[in-house]
Parts: sequence; C-alpha cells; structure tokens
Amino acid sequence: EMEQTFIMIKPDGVQRGLVGEIISRFEKKGFYLKGLKLINVERSFAEKHYADLSAKPFFNGLVEYIISGPVIAMVWQGKNVVITGRKIIGATNPAESAPGTIRGDFAIDIGRNVIHGSDSVESARKEIALWFPECPFNWQSCLH
Ligand code: CMP
Repeated sequence: EMEQTFIMIKPDGVQRGLVGEIISRFEKKGFYLKGLKLINVERSFAEKHYADLSAKPFFNGLVEYIISGPVIAMVWQGKNVVITGRKIIGATNPAESAPGTIRGDFAIDIGRNVIHGSDSVESARKEIALWFPECPFNWQSCLH
C-alpha cells in the first residue's frame, strides 16, 4: 500500500499561480514529495504521455494545452497515494468535482483542469518512468 504517484500541474495551474497551493494540499495530507521539476515538454512527449487517448476527439487540443507552457512534474509518495491523490484532485470534469478538491476549487473547464494524477499504480509506474527517466531501472528505489 506504500505507493508513489505521478502528479503534473498543467500550464494553466502554473500560469495562475496555483503551484504553492497544490503542493501545500499534498504536503498537509501527509504525503512525501520525492521528485519535482518545472519543464516545457515537446509535442511528441505530450503525445506519449496521453497515448491512451490518441483516438479521442479532444486529443490534439489536449496536447496543445499541455505544450502551451511549463508544467510541474512531481512524484508523491505515501500510503494509498494513487487513489487518495485522485480524491484530492477531484473528478476530471470540474463540473462534477466537489468543492474542497483542487479541480472543484480552481477549475471550471474540463479542457483546463489544472492538474493530472495517475489513475492506477500501473499508470503511476509508467508515468514516473516516462517523466523521470533519470531513474530508469527501479523507480521505487531511485526516488528515495
Ligand atoms: P487528465 O487527468 O490529465 O487525463 C486526461 C485529460 O484529458 C483530462 O485530465 C482532461 O484534461 C482531458 N480531457 C478529458 N476529457 C476531455 C474532454 N471531453 N474535452 C477536453 N479535454 C478532456
């Protein structure tokens, strides 16, 4: 149950000055920040991150959004952090995310929903390997 998850603050979240607020919410919950970087990703990288959605009608717009400015890529660790992180973030569509969640408090548009979090332990493993390739062989022990 001790897990790591990948969390990304999207360009709108960075531009709107929500980085500190978001990090604070994960810290106060009790999770541990294990990795963090501010980066501009290339189109091909964004397409790889969202490869599972490549058939969706919003895919190109989603990629344009993610490459529109710097993002904050993070690894957070703790007990059940994947599912709990998703709860802290709130439902994908801000119209359905509860007040008190990050999207519920700070977003109104599904296409500008401030933050991404891995949806499963398996997705987290893949996403951490993609975003933190400096730890290519054993992500659990590298980000200690
Ligand atoms: P995220 O948690 O990063 O996972 C996939 C992303 O696709 C999601 O957040 C939204 O940013 C985006 N997304 C999902 N559904 C739609 C939609 N109907 N229109 C635009 N973007 C969407």
